[in-house]
Amino acid sequence: LVGSEMCIRDRCIVPKGIFITLEGPDGSGKSTQVENIKAYFENEGREVVVSREPGGTSISEKLRNIVLDNENAEMDDITEMFIYAAARAQHVAEKIRPALESGAVVICDRFVDSSIAYQGYGRNLGEQVGEVNRYATCGLEPDVTFFMDLDPEIGRSRIGKDVRDRLEQQKLDFHYRVYEGYKAICVKYPERVVRIDATRTVEEIKEDIYSKLGSI
Ligand code: TYD
Repeated sequence: LVGSEMCIRDRCIVPKGIFITLEGPDGSGKSTQVENIKAYFENEGREVVVSREPGGTSISEKLRNIVLDNENAEMDDITEMFIYAAARAQHVAEKIRPALESGAVVICDRFVDSSIAYQGYGRNLGEQVGEVNRYATCGLEPDVTFFMDLDPEIGRSRIGKDVRDRLEQQKLDFHYRVYEGYKAICVKYPERVVRIDATRTVEEIKEDIYSKLGSI
């Protein structure tokens, strides 16, 4: 991808901060652990920026509303993939990269791995999802990714039945393909991705994550 290479060369400065992402099925307890990771780094006196995807900037939150809206049932899978990528491009350019350049710790609830798992595997869009996202992010990758490993059916039962967005509403076989995607990501990026057994208590998971953070 010539465009992608140009984009990476022209726009990317090696960041001074630390970029941490959390991934996993819906209901795997990511947001609780985002708060714990935030507390860890604040305790060390670091500046911390917390964000989430899709979202994190004004434009990206508008795109979030479109992509998750149950009224958009006719949305094409490729349209969906590009909306996630567009929201991410804005998020990286406006918020994540500037924060990393200023030396902050950025903790993000979901990032490119979500698109690989949900759109690449869940929607069966395959390898192109990685290419599109490499372009969208100008090649930015997390330093560490915590994968909250939880069977999708358990995650689904944890979030309850009343408020389901367009993605959460997908049938269980979709969520199992997403889960397979995450497991493939763990195998492909063993240096970056740390698997966390998310069946345990919040406190046990926190201790596990803190011990990993102690070694980065
Ligand atoms: P999330 O904000 O984690 O959901 P909630 O806050 O309701 O738990 O993510 C919304 C949904 O979007 C979630 O089902 C996962 C999905 N998603 C993708 O399919 N691709 C992506 O790239 C991202 C970031 C999320």
